[in-house]
Amino acid sequence: MTFPQRRLRRLRGSDAIRRLVGETSLSINDLVAPLFVREAITDPIPIQSLPGVVQNSQDSLEAEVQRLVDLGIPALILFGIPAKKDAEGSEAWNPDGVVQVALSRLRDRFGDQILLMADLCVDEYTSHGHCGIIDSNGVVQNDATLELYARAAIAQAVAGAHITAPSGMMDGQVSAIRSGLDGAGHTDLPILAYSAKYASAMYGPFRDAVDVTIADGGNRQGYQQDPRNRREALEEVRLDLAEGADMVMVKPALTYLDVISDVRAEVNVPLGAYHVSGEYAMLKAAAANGWIDGDAAAIEVLTSIKRAGADFILTYLAAEVAERVLA
Ligand code: PBG
Repeated sequence: MTFPQRRLRRLRGSDAIRRLVGETSLSINDLVAPLFVREAITDPIPIQSLPGVVQNSQDSLEAEVQRLVDLGIPALILFGIPAKKDAEGSEAWNPDGVVQVALSRLRDRFGDQILLMADLCVDEYTSHGHCGIIDSNGVVQNDATLELYARAAIAQAVAGAHITAPSGMMDGQVSAIRSGLDGAGHTDLPILAYSAKYASAMYGPFRDAVDVTIADGGNRQGYQQDPRNRREALEEVRLDLAEGADMVMVKPALTYLDVISDVRAEVNVPLGAYHVSGEYAMLKAAAANGWIDGDAAAIEVLTSIKRAGADFILTYLAAEVAERVLA
């Protein structure tokens, strides 16, 4: 008996034929490694809720980046944990701030061997943990925050960033950053906009990683997207492109594969997806319990994000997957 499905099954019979006809392939070239650097520490500090990820000192960061370079990973994205926070988040644009110091050290040592992306937001630097300055009622002041973002972008560019990645979801942030950069002569620095960024429970471990607690039990639902909404992601992406974004991002990844697919169909610019801290932590927790095969699950998850349409993936799995599976 031959069923029509035989045609499909005939193409699944060996690893070689599956590789030949595979529509999607995951490569080391698709990976961006998120890294944390903390001011005023000498030894790296493990992050409990992100097994295998640490808050780096400047020295341990350099060692970690050397490993990424050796693995052939094309990019990293840097987050900073300052020694002191204030209401405005001024360490975000201090030329001697933790990320700026890290950028200049890494750029000096590694040149263009690996792209240095700098996350651009003030939440790691504000005493209240919001992505912008707040009024006396605790409400984020969108327009007043834009000037601070432009300052931070210029500080990152001066320090040696290859790409700035605004993640704060302030309206007008891309154009404010573009004109700030252009005005300071950094016309060639690309902007990767976190365009479709949802107010997600999946950022939990990241907040541990950067020591952020939002004041008064607050949240980001006033400025990040509502998980119920699909169409507004396209609106956010279009507006960011109109403001001058060079690349766009969807975040988180797995719970928003439909959004990745929509954005891919809509735009021609490179599309990133952020497989975020909570997504990584869930996978690691299940693997540590022996409930799933961690490496196999990692490849399946990352492949699904590419299949949905992402060109590259920001993921805490980058180094281990590059080392154990893709190399
Ligand atoms: C904001 C920012 C966040 C993440 C990346 N940039 C947290 C937030 O919006 O609350 C989360 C990344 C992750 O969970 O891995 N600076």
